[in-house]
Amino acid sequence: MFNIWNFWADKYDKLWVQKYSLKPTRHYIIKVLSNYKNKDELKVLDLGCGTGELIGELTKEFKNIKITGLDFSEKMIQISKKRNPSVKHLIMDVSELNFLDEEYDIIISTHSIPYYKEPQLIFKHLYKMLKYDGRIFAAFASGDSIYDKFILSFVKLTTGRANYPSDYEFRLLISPFFDVENLEIIRKKCFMPRIAVYTLKKVKS
Ligand SMILES: C[S@@+](CC[C@H](N)C(=O)[O-])C[C@H]1O[C@@H](n2cnc3c(N)ncnc32)[C@H](O)[C@@H]1O
Repeated sequence: MFNIWNFWADKYDKLWVQKYSLKPTRHYIIKVLSNYKNKDELKVLDLGCGTGELIGELTKEFKNIKITGLDFSEKMIQISKKRNPSVKHLIMDVSELNFLDEEYDIIISTHSIPYYKEPQLIFKHLYKMLKYDGRIFAAFASGDSIYDKFILSFVKLTTGRANYPSDYEFRLLISPFFDVENLEIIRKKCFMPRIAVYTLKKVKS
């Protein structure tokens, strides 16, 4: 089956959005994970890991991280494996996460949630996969204003079907499973859409 991300894989690291969107997101994730530097080993999952740029930077920066990269694009995974040969990789669609019998301290998803077909179902799966005091870091371009929606309509032309949730839509989506602990907004240039990075923790059951 055609997967647009296989098409982008070998061009991905050189895309112009790296500078103002993808790289600043990675920097922020590295910054927040610094709070965990002195902890024992952390089991981390990078959902929609793409070419594994974040995995590479995290493994270099943190010695206490045991990370798994997951993506449904064979080409993206191929590049990530080459970059991060000692890291475990899974080629699978997030819609099949219920078959993954693993628990993680930290789950990261940067710039891939807008492309999930049933995001609420995915967060339901993630609820089961996140340890009791674990955290999810969810970063995505957010269609929070008419201006953002307008810019993102052009992005969609390059990615195919996508839904960039507003702050309200995202909070509603996750509300049965997670509370928002923190929200960081990244906007490096006015012509870039608003990037929202949510820190999520499990709702108390
Ligand atoms: C824009 S890229 C983001 C890559 C990387 N996380 C980053 O921040 O640069 C989106 C990634 O999500 C992956 N993806 C999208 N939908 C997916 C799904 N349903 N299951 C697994 N991976 C998915 C794509 O293959 C692609 O590698």
